[in-house]
Amino acid sequence: MSETAKLKVNGKEYEFPLLKGTENELAIDIKSLRAATEGVITLDSGYKNTGSCESAVTFLDGEKGILRYRGYSIEELASKSNFLESSYLLIFGELPTAVELKKFHDDILAESLVDEDIKKILDGFPKSAHPMGVVSALTSSLIAFNPESVNIESSEDMYDAIVKLLAKFPVLAAWTLRKKQGLPLDYGDVNLGYVENMYKMMFSKPNCEFKANPVVLNALDKLLILHADHEQNCSTSTVRIVGSSHAGLFASISAGISALWGPLHGGANQAVIEMLEDIKNDGGDYNKYIAKAKDKNDPFRLMGFGHRVYKNFDPRAKIIQVAAEEVLADLGINDPVLEIAKGLEKVALSDEYFKSRNLYPNVDFYSGIIYRALGIPVEMFTVMFALGRLPGWIAQWKEMRMKHEPIGRPRQLYTGEVLRGFEPIEKR
Ligand code: CMC
Repeated sequence: MSETAKLKVNGKEYEFPLLKGTENELAIDIKSLRAATEGVITLDSGYKNTGSCESAVTFLDGEKGILRYRGYSIEELASKSNFLESSYLLIFGELPTAVELKKFHDDILAESLVDEDIKKILDGFPKSAHPMGVVSALTSSLIAFNPESVNIESSEDMYDAIVKLLAKFPVLAAWTLRKKQGLPLDYGDVNLGYVENMYKMMFSKPNCEFKANPVVLNALDKLLILHADHEQNCSTSTVRIVGSSHAGLFASISAGISALWGPLHGGANQAVIEMLEDIKNDGGDYNKYIAKAKDKNDPFRLMGFGHRVYKNFDPRAKIIQVAAEEVLADLGINDPVLEIAKGLEKVALSDEYFKSRNLYPNVDFYSGIIYRALGIPVEMFTVMFALGRLPGWIAQWKEMRMKHEPIGRPRQLYTGEVLRGFEPIEKR
Protein backbone atom coordinates (compact mmCIF):
# COMPACT_ATOMS: atom_id res chain seq x y z
CA MET A 1 0.00 0.00 0.00
CA SER A 2 1.42 3.38 -0.93
CA GLU A 3 2.08 5.84 1.88
CA THR A 4 0.02 8.92 2.55
CA ALA A 5 0.31 12.09 4.59
CA LYS A 6 -2.55 13.17 6.83
CA LEU A 7 -3.63 16.74 7.41
CA LYS A 8 -6.25 17.94 9.89
CA VAL A 9 -8.05 21.18 8.98
CA ASN A 10 -10.88 22.51 11.17
CA GLY A 11 -11.21 19.10 12.83
CA LYS A 12 -11.54 17.19 9.57
CA GLU A 13 -8.82 14.81 8.39
CA TYR A 14 -7.59 14.61 4.82
CA GLU A 15 -5.14 12.20 3.25
CA PHE A 16 -2.70 13.02 0.47
CA PRO A 17 -0.42 10.70 -1.50
CA LEU A 18 3.24 10.66 -0.51
CA LEU A 19 5.40 10.52 -3.64
CA LYS A 20 8.92 9.15 -3.70
CA GLY A 21 11.61 10.26 -6.15
CA THR A 22 14.33 8.00 -7.52
CA GLU A 23 16.71 9.28 -4.83
CA ASN A 24 14.09 8.53 -2.14
CA GLU A 25 13.10 12.14 -1.64
CA LEU A 26 9.52 12.45 -0.41
CA ALA A 27 6.84 14.90 -1.49
CA ILE A 28 3.27 15.33 -0.35
CA ASP A 29 1.09 15.57 -3.43
CA ILE A 30 -1.38 18.32 -2.54
CA LYS A 31 -3.02 18.59 -5.97
CA SER A 32 -6.42 17.84 -4.47
CA LEU A 33 -5.98 20.01 -1.34
CA ARG A 34 -7.98 23.08 -2.33
CA ALA A 35 -10.85 21.15 -3.84
CA ALA A 36 -11.05 18.64 -0.96
CA THR A 37 -10.86 21.27 1.77
CA GLU A 38 -13.04 23.75 -0.10
CA GLY A 39 -10.52 26.53 -0.40
CA VAL A 40 -7.54 25.86 1.85
CA ILE A 41 -4.15 26.47 0.22
CA THR A 42 -0.53 26.16 1.37
CA LEU A 43 1.59 29.26 1.94
CA ASP A 44 5.33 29.10 1.34
CA SER A 45 6.89 32.41 0.37
CA GLY A 46 10.11 31.99 -1.58
CA TYR A 47 8.98 28.38 -2.24
CA LYS A 48 11.37 27.13 0.45
CA ASN A 49 9.40 23.88 0.83
CA THR A 50 7.49 23.71 -2.41
CA GLY A 51 8.26 21.42 -5.31
CA SER A 52 7.04 23.02 -8.51
CA CYS A 53 7.46 19.97 -10.73
CA GLU A 54 8.73 16.43 -11.08
CA SER A 55 11.97 16.57 -13.02
CA ALA A 56 14.47 14.02 -14.32
CA VAL A 57 17.15 16.53 -15.33
CA THR A 58 19.28 17.35 -12.29
CA PHE A 59 19.61 15.87 -8.81
CA LEU A 60 20.85 18.02 -5.97
CA ASP A 61 21.26 17.04 -2.31
CA GLY A 62 22.05 20.25 -0.45
CA GLU A 63 22.74 18.52 2.86
CA LYS A 64 25.31 16.16 1.38
CA GLY A 65 26.67 18.58 -1.25
CA ILE A 66 25.73 16.36 -4.22
CA LEU A 67 25.04 17.62 -7.74
CA ARG A 68 24.33 15.31 -10.70
CA TYR A 69 23.18 15.95 -14.27
CA ARG A 70 21.02 13.07 -15.53
CA GLY A 71 22.65 10.81 -12.92
CA TYR A 72 26.28 11.74 -13.65
CA SER A 73 28.20 13.43 -10.85
CA ILE A 74 29.34 17.01 -11.44
CA GLU A 75 32.86 15.99 -10.41
CA GLU A 76 33.02 13.33 -13.12
CA LEU A 77 31.49 15.55 -15.79
CA ALA A 78 33.84 18.44 -14.92
CA SER A 79 36.88 16.20 -15.24
CA LYS A 80 35.87 13.92 -18.16
CA SER A 81 33.24 15.66 -20.27
CA ASN A 82 33.15 18.89 -22.22
CA PHE A 83 30.52 21.61 -22.28
CA LEU A 84 28.90 20.64 -25.58
CA GLU A 85 28.65 16.98 -24.59
CA SER A 86 27.23 17.89 -21.14
CA SER A 87 24.75 20.21 -22.85
CA TYR A 88 23.56 17.36 -25.07
CA LEU A 89 23.26 15.15 -21.99
CA LEU A 90 21.15 17.70 -20.14
CA ILE A 91 18.87 18.45 -23.07
CA PHE A 92 18.38 14.96 -24.51
CA GLY A 93 18.87 12.84 -21.40
CA GLU A 94 21.77 10.60 -22.49
CA LEU A 95 25.42 11.08 -23.33
CA PRO A 96 25.76 11.32 -27.12
CA THR A 97 27.67 8.87 -29.28
CA ALA A 98 30.54 10.36 -31.28
CA VAL A 99 28.27 10.52 -34.35
CA GLU A 100 25.44 12.21 -32.43
CA LEU A 101 27.81 14.76 -30.91
CA LYS A 102 29.36 15.60 -34.28
CA LYS A 103 25.96 16.07 -35.86
CA PHE A 104 24.88 18.25 -32.93
CA HIS A 105 27.97 20.42 -33.33
CA ASP A 106 27.61 20.60 -37.13
CA ASP A 107 23.97 21.62 -36.78
CA ILE A 108 24.92 24.33 -34.30
CA LEU A 109 27.67 25.61 -36.62
CA ALA A 110 25.19 25.75 -39.50
CA GLU A 111 23.04 28.14 -37.42
CA SER A 112 25.82 30.19 -35.91
CA LEU A 113 25.16 33.41 -37.80
CA VAL A 114 22.63 35.97 -36.66
CA ASP A 115 20.65 38.30 -38.87
CA GLU A 116 22.77 41.36 -39.72
CA ASP A 117 19.89 43.59 -38.56
CA ILE A 118 20.62 42.47 -34.99
CA LYS A 119 23.60 44.82 -35.21
CA LYS A 120 21.20 47.75 -35.49
CA ILE A 121 19.51 46.72 -32.25
CA LEU A 122 22.91 46.33 -30.58
CA ASP A 123 23.92 49.75 -31.83
CA GLY A 124 20.91 51.29 -30.10
CA PHE A 125 22.37 50.49 -26.68
CA PRO A 126 24.82 52.89 -25.07
CA LYS A 127 28.24 51.42 -24.25
CA SER A 128 27.39 51.93 -20.58
CA ALA A 129 24.45 49.46 -20.76
CA HIS A 130 24.83 46.46 -18.49
CA PRO A 131 25.57 43.41 -20.68
CA MET A 132 22.87 41.32 -18.97
CA GLY A 133 20.18 43.79 -20.05
CA VAL A 134 21.56 43.85 -23.58
CA VAL A 135 21.83 40.08 -23.85
CA SER A 136 18.31 39.57 -22.51
CA ALA A 137 16.93 42.09 -25.03
CA LEU A 138 18.89 40.60 -27.95
CA THR A 139 17.70 37.09 -27.05
CA SER A 140 14.15 38.36 -27.02
CA SER A 141 14.77 40.02 -30.39
CA LEU A 142 15.58 36.60 -31.88
CA ILE A 143 11.81 36.01 -31.84
CA ALA A 144 11.35 38.80 -34.36
CA PHE A 145 13.86 37.13 -36.70
CA ASN A 146 12.40 33.65 -36.13
CA PRO A 147 8.69 34.39 -35.69
CA GLU A 148 7.31 30.91 -36.36
CA SER A 149 6.43 29.26 -33.03
CA VAL A 150 7.91 25.88 -32.16
CA ASN A 151 5.61 22.94 -32.70
CA ILE A 152 6.42 20.96 -29.60
CA GLU A 153 4.77 17.85 -31.05
CA SER A 154 7.48 17.77 -33.71
CA SER A 155 10.85 16.55 -32.44
CA GLU A 156 12.48 18.15 -35.52
CA ASP A 157 10.97 21.55 -34.73
CA MET A 158 12.08 21.24 -31.12
CA TYR A 159 15.58 20.22 -32.16
CA ASP A 160 15.84 23.09 -34.66
CA ALA A 161 14.80 25.70 -32.08
CA ILE A 162 17.25 24.31 -29.51
CA VAL A 163 20.13 24.24 -31.98
CA LYS A 164 19.35 27.79 -33.14
CA LEU A 165 19.48 29.12 -29.61
CA LEU A 166 22.69 27.28 -28.70
CA ALA A 167 24.23 28.61 -31.92
CA LYS A 168 23.12 32.22 -31.72
CA PHE A 169 23.30 32.99 -28.01
CA PRO A 170 27.13 32.95 -27.85
CA VAL A 171 27.19 35.36 -30.82
CA LEU A 172 24.87 37.75 -28.98
CA ALA A 173 26.94 37.48 -25.78
CA ALA A 174 30.25 37.98 -27.60
CA TRP A 175 28.97 40.92 -29.65
CA THR A 176 27.64 42.55 -26.49
CA LEU A 177 31.14 42.40 -25.04
CA ARG A 178 32.80 43.65 -28.22
CA LYS A 179 30.43 46.57 -28.53
CA LYS A 180 31.21 47.49 -24.92
CA GLN A 181 34.91 47.35 -25.66
CA GLY A 182 34.64 49.18 -28.97
CA LEU A 183 35.95 46.22 -30.98
CA PRO A 184 34.69 45.15 -34.42
CA LEU A 185 32.27 42.24 -34.29
CA ASP A 186 33.67 38.77 -34.88
CA TYR A 187 31.72 36.08 -36.75
CA GLY A 188 33.59 33.13 -35.27
CA ASP A 189 35.16 30.25 -37.11
CA VAL A 190 33.33 27.04 -38.02
CA ASN A 191 36.58 25.09 -37.69
CA LEU A 192 36.73 25.66 -33.95
CA GLY A 193 35.10 23.76 -31.11
CA TYR A 194 31.98 25.26 -29.48
CA VAL A 195 33.76 26.83 -26.50
CA GLU A 196 36.85 27.86 -28.44
CA ASN A 197 34.65 29.61 -30.98
CA MET A 198 32.77 31.37 -28.19
CA TYR A 199 36.11 32.49 -26.81
CA LYS A 200 37.31 33.68 -30.23
CA MET A 201 34.16 35.70 -30.87
CA MET A 202 34.75 37.44 -27.55
CA PHE A 203 38.47 37.99 -27.54
CA SER A 204 39.99 37.92 -31.03
CA LYS A 205 41.76 41.11 -32.05
CA PRO A 206 41.37 42.44 -35.61
CA ASN A 207 45.12 43.00 -35.95
CA CYS A 208 46.51 39.65 -34.80
CA GLU A 209 45.98 35.94 -35.31
CA PHE A 210 43.65 34.30 -32.81
CA LYS A 211 45.28 31.70 -30.61
CA ALA A 212 43.67 30.34 -27.46
CA ASN A 213 45.65 29.14 -24.46
CA PRO A 214 44.57 25.51 -23.77
CA VAL A 215 44.63 26.10 -20.00
CA VAL A 216 42.26 29.01 -20.43
CA LEU A 217 39.96 27.03 -22.72
CA ASN A 218 39.94 24.09 -20.34
CA ALA A 219 39.06 26.33 -17.38
CA LEU A 220 36.32 28.05 -19.37
CA ASP A 221 34.87 24.72 -20.49
CA LYS A 222 34.86 23.48 -16.89
CA LEU A 223 33.19 26.64 -15.63
CA LEU A 224 30.48 26.33 -18.26
CA ILE A 225 29.82 22.69 -17.27
CA LEU A 226 29.61 23.63 -13.58
CA HIS A 227 27.00 26.29 -14.35
CA ALA A 228 24.99 24.22 -16.84
CA ASP A 229 22.05 23.32 -14.59
CA HIS A 230 20.95 23.57 -11.00
CA GLU A 231 17.38 22.27 -10.93
CA GLN A 232 14.58 24.66 -9.94
CA ASN A 233 16.58 27.82 -9.11
CA CYS A 234 15.16 31.32 -9.64
CA SER A 235 16.06 31.72 -13.33
CA THR A 236 15.13 28.15 -14.27
CA SER A 237 11.80 28.44 -12.48
CA THR A 238 11.30 31.69 -14.41
CA VAL A 239 12.02 29.94 -17.71
CA ARG A 240 9.57 27.18 -16.84
CA ILE A 241 6.83 29.51 -15.64
CA VAL A 242 7.11 31.83 -18.65
CA GLY A 243 7.18 28.82 -20.96
CA SER A 244 4.16 27.34 -19.19
CA SER A 245 1.99 30.08 -20.75
CA HIS A 246 3.24 28.68 -24.10
CA ALA A 247 5.40 31.75 -24.71
CA GLY A 248 8.17 30.55 -27.03
CA LEU A 249 11.61 29.24 -26.17
CA PHE A 250 13.47 32.49 -26.91
CA ALA A 251 11.02 34.59 -24.84
CA SER A 252 11.27 32.14 -21.94
CA ILE A 253 15.08 32.18 -21.99
CA SER A 254 15.16 35.97 -22.25
CA ALA A 255 13.08 36.11 -19.04
CA GLY A 256 15.45 33.62 -17.41
CA ILE A 257 18.40 35.89 -18.22
CA SER A 258 16.68 38.77 -16.42
CA ALA A 259 16.08 36.57 -13.38
CA LEU A 260 19.71 35.47 -13.36
CA TRP A 261 20.90 39.09 -13.36
CA GLY A 262 20.02 39.77 -9.70
CA PRO A 263 22.85 39.81 -7.13
CA LEU A 264 21.17 37.14 -5.00
CA HIS A 265 21.38 34.78 -8.00
CA GLY A 266 23.84 34.85 -10.93
CA GLY A 267 24.68 38.51 -10.39
CA ALA A 268 26.52 37.41 -7.23
CA ASN A 269 29.64 36.61 -9.27
CA GLN A 270 30.02 40.28 -10.19
CA ALA A 271 29.11 41.32 -6.62
CA VAL A 272 31.77 38.97 -5.17
CA ILE A 273 34.65 40.43 -7.12
CA GLU A 274 33.46 43.98 -6.38
CA MET A 275 33.29 43.07 -2.68
CA LEU A 276 36.79 41.54 -2.75
CA GLU A 277 38.10 44.66 -4.48
CA ASP A 278 36.45 46.87 -1.85
CA ILE A 279 38.12 44.82 0.90
CA LYS A 280 41.47 45.11 -0.86
CA ASN A 281 41.13 48.87 -1.32
CA ASP A 282 40.08 49.15 2.31
CA GLY A 283 43.39 47.69 3.48
CA GLY A 284 42.53 43.99 3.19
CA ASP A 285 40.97 43.64 6.66
CA TYR A 286 38.36 40.96 5.95
CA ASN A 287 37.42 40.62 9.64
CA LYS A 288 35.76 44.01 9.35
CA TYR A 289 33.57 42.65 6.53
CA ILE A 290 32.76 39.47 8.45
CA ALA A 291 31.56 41.69 11.30
CA LYS A 292 29.45 43.74 8.86
CA ALA A 293 27.88 40.56 7.43
CA LYS A 294 26.95 39.41 10.94
CA ASP A 295 25.49 42.78 11.97
CA LYS A 296 21.72 42.60 11.64
CA ASN A 297 21.55 46.39 11.39
CA ASP A 298 23.83 46.35 8.35
CA PRO A 299 22.30 45.20 5.04
CA PHE A 300 25.73 43.96 3.89
CA ARG A 301 25.94 40.25 3.05
CA LEU A 302 29.04 38.26 2.35
CA MET A 303 28.55 37.80 -1.38
CA GLY A 304 29.31 34.31 -2.66
CA PHE A 305 28.30 32.80 0.66
CA GLY A 306 25.15 30.89 1.48
CA HIS A 307 22.72 29.03 -0.69
CA ARG A 308 19.03 28.26 -0.57
CA VAL A 309 19.62 24.57 -1.11
CA TYR A 310 23.22 23.80 -0.10
CA LYS A 311 23.65 23.52 3.63
CA ASN A 312 27.08 22.06 3.04
CA PHE A 313 29.94 22.92 0.67
CA ASP A 314 28.68 23.77 -2.80
CA PRO A 315 30.44 21.01 -4.79
CA ARG A 316 30.94 23.46 -7.66
CA ALA A 317 32.80 25.89 -5.40
CA LYS A 318 35.30 23.17 -4.47
CA ILE A 319 36.07 22.44 -8.15
CA ILE A 320 36.25 26.13 -9.02
CA GLN A 321 38.64 26.94 -6.20
CA VAL A 322 41.12 24.35 -7.50
CA ALA A 323 40.64 25.54 -11.09
CA ALA A 324 41.20 29.18 -10.03
CA GLU A 325 44.54 28.28 -8.45
CA GLU A 326 45.56 26.31 -11.57
CA VAL A 327 44.64 29.09 -14.00
CA LEU A 328 46.37 31.79 -11.99
CA ALA A 329 49.50 29.64 -11.64
CA ASP A 330 49.57 28.80 -15.35
CA LEU A 331 49.04 32.37 -16.46
CA GLY A 332 51.57 33.59 -13.90
CA ILE A 333 49.00 35.93 -12.39
CA ASN A 334 49.29 36.93 -8.77
CA ASP A 335 45.84 38.21 -7.92
CA PRO A 336 45.73 39.60 -4.37
CA VAL A 337 41.97 39.10 -4.22
CA LEU A 338 42.51 35.31 -4.33
CA GLU A 339 44.36 35.57 -1.03
CA ILE A 340 41.61 37.78 0.38
CA ALA A 341 38.98 35.26 -0.78
CA LYS A 342 40.84 32.36 0.84
CA GLY A 343 41.29 34.32 4.08
CA LEU A 344 37.65 35.34 4.13
CA GLU A 345 36.57 31.75 3.53
CA LYS A 346 38.81 30.45 6.34
CA VAL A 347 37.50 32.97 8.88
CA ALA A 348 33.87 32.52 7.87
CA LEU A 349 34.03 28.73 8.02
CA SER A 350 35.19 28.83 11.62
CA ASP A 351 32.83 31.60 12.71
CA GLU A 352 29.78 30.62 14.78
CA TYR A 353 27.44 32.91 12.80
CA PHE A 354 28.27 31.19 9.50
CA LYS A 355 28.58 27.70 11.02
CA SER A 356 25.23 27.80 12.76
CA ARG A 357 23.51 28.97 9.56
CA ASN A 358 25.37 26.51 7.32
CA LEU A 359 26.74 29.30 5.17
CA TYR A 360 29.44 27.97 2.86
CA PRO A 361 31.07 29.44 -0.25
CA ASN A 362 28.88 28.97 -3.30
CA VAL A 363 29.65 28.67 -7.02
CA ASP A 364 30.08 32.41 -7.39
CA PHE A 365 32.71 32.84 -4.71
CA TYR A 366 35.71 31.83 -6.82
CA SER A 367 34.38 31.93 -10.40
CA GLY A 368 34.99 35.69 -10.77
CA ILE A 369 38.67 35.25 -9.98
CA ILE A 370 39.00 32.90 -12.95
CA TYR A 371 36.93 35.10 -15.24
CA ARG A 372 39.13 38.04 -14.35
CA ALA A 373 42.28 36.05 -15.00
CA LEU A 374 40.83 35.14 -18.42
CA GLY A 375 40.48 38.84 -19.19
CA ILE A 376 36.70 38.92 -18.94
CA PRO A 377 35.41 42.30 -17.68
CA VAL A 378 33.51 42.20 -14.37
CA GLU A 379 30.22 43.31 -15.91
CA MET A 380 30.35 40.27 -18.22
CA PHE A 381 30.64 37.71 -15.41
CA THR A 382 26.93 37.05 -15.17
CA VAL A 383 26.73 36.73 -18.97
CA MET A 384 29.33 33.95 -18.63
CA PHE A 385 27.02 32.30 -16.12
CA ALA A 386 24.15 32.64 -18.62
CA LEU A 387 26.25 31.04 -21.39
CA GLY A 388 26.78 28.09 -19.07
CA ARG A 389 23.19 27.89 -17.82
CA LEU A 390 21.65 27.99 -21.32
CA PRO A 391 21.52 24.17 -21.84
CA GLY A 392 19.97 23.73 -18.39
CA TRP A 393 17.27 26.29 -19.13
CA ILE A 394 16.59 24.60 -22.48
CA ALA A 395 16.46 21.12 -20.90
CA GLN A 396 14.02 22.29 -18.23
CA TRP A 397 11.85 24.18 -20.72
CA LYS A 398 11.77 21.14 -23.01
CA GLU A 399 10.86 18.81 -20.16
CA MET A 400 8.09 21.14 -19.02
CA ARG A 401 6.59 21.47 -22.50
CA MET A 402 6.93 17.77 -23.37
CA LYS A 403 5.08 16.85 -20.19
CA HIS A 404 2.31 19.31 -21.05
CA GLU A 405 2.58 20.90 -17.64
CA PRO A 406 -0.26 23.30 -16.77
CA ILE A 407 0.28 27.04 -16.72
CA GLY A 408 2.19 28.13 -13.61
CA ARG A 409 -0.18 30.19 -11.55
CA PRO A 410 0.34 30.29 -7.77
CA ARG A 411 -2.40 31.20 -5.29
CA GLN A 412 -2.16 33.83 -2.55
CA LEU A 413 -3.48 34.55 0.91
CA TYR A 414 -5.19 37.91 0.52
CA THR A 415 -4.39 40.30 3.40
CA GLY A 416 -5.75 43.56 1.97
CA GLU A 417 -8.89 45.58 2.65
CA VAL A 418 -12.24 43.82 2.65
CA LEU A 419 -15.05 45.27 0.50
CA ARG A 420 -15.56 48.99 1.05
CA GLY A 421 -17.64 51.67 -0.64
CA PHE A 422 -16.19 54.06 -3.23
CA GLU A 423 -15.86 57.64 -1.93
CA PRO A 424 -16.25 60.35 -4.60
CA ILE A 425 -13.02 62.40 -4.85
CA GLU A 426 -14.52 65.54 -3.34
CA LYS A 427 -15.46 63.64 -0.18
CA ARG A 428 -11.98 62.10 0.47
N1 CMC B 1 26.02 36.81 4.49
C1 CMC B 1 25.54 36.98 5.74
N2 CMC B 1 24.45 36.35 6.22
C2 CMC B 1 23.81 35.53 5.40
C3 CMC B 1 24.23 35.30 4.07
C4 CMC B 1 25.39 35.98 3.62
N3 CMC B 1 25.82 35.80 2.38
N4 CMC B 1 23.39 34.42 3.47
C5 CMC B 1 22.46 34.12 4.38
N5 CMC B 1 22.71 34.78 5.56
C6 CMC B 1 21.96 34.65 6.82
C7 CMC B 1 20.65 35.42 6.75
O1 CMC B 1 20.80 36.75 7.23
C8 CMC B 1 19.77 34.58 7.66
O2 CMC B 1 20.14 34.86 8.99
P1 CMC B 1 19.02 34.80 10.16
O3 CMC B 1 18.55 33.39 10.21
O4 CMC B 1 19.72 35.26 11.39
O5 CMC B 1 17.93 35.76 9.73
C9 CMC B 1 20.23 33.15 7.37
O6 CMC B 1 21.60 33.29 6.95
C10 CMC B 1 19.44 32.44 6.26
O7 CMC B 1 19.46 33.28 5.11
P2 CMC B 1 18.24 33.45 4.10
O8 CMC B 1 18.38 34.77 3.41
O9 CMC B 1 16.95 33.15 4.81
O10 CMC B 1 18.53 32.26 3.10
P3 CMC B 1 17.92 32.12 1.66
O11 CMC B 1 17.89 30.69 1.36
O12 CMC B 1 16.64 32.88 1.53
O13 CMC B 1 18.98 32.89 0.72
C11 CMC B 1 20.88 33.35 -0.62
C12 CMC B 1 19.98 32.26 0.00
C13 CMC B 1 21.83 32.71 -1.62
C14 CMC B 1 19.98 34.37 -1.39
C15 CMC B 1 21.66 34.06 0.50
O14 CMC B 1 22.49 33.13 1.18
C16 CMC B 1 22.49 35.24 0.00
O15 CMC B 1 21.96 36.35 -0.12
N6 CMC B 1 23.80 35.01 -0.33
C17 CMC B 1 24.64 36.05 -0.92
C18 CMC B 1 24.36 36.17 -2.40
C19 CMC B 1 24.94 35.01 -3.18
O16 CMC B 1 26.09 34.64 -3.02
N7 CMC B 1 24.12 34.45 -4.11
C20 CMC B 1 24.56 33.37 -5.01
C21 CMC B 1 23.84 32.10 -4.75
S1 CMC B 1 24.60 30.69 -5.56
C22 CMC B 1 24.48 30.93 -7.25
C23 CMC B 1 23.11 31.15 -7.76
O17 CMC B 1 22.11 30.59 -7.31
O18 CMC B 1 22.99 31.89 -8.71
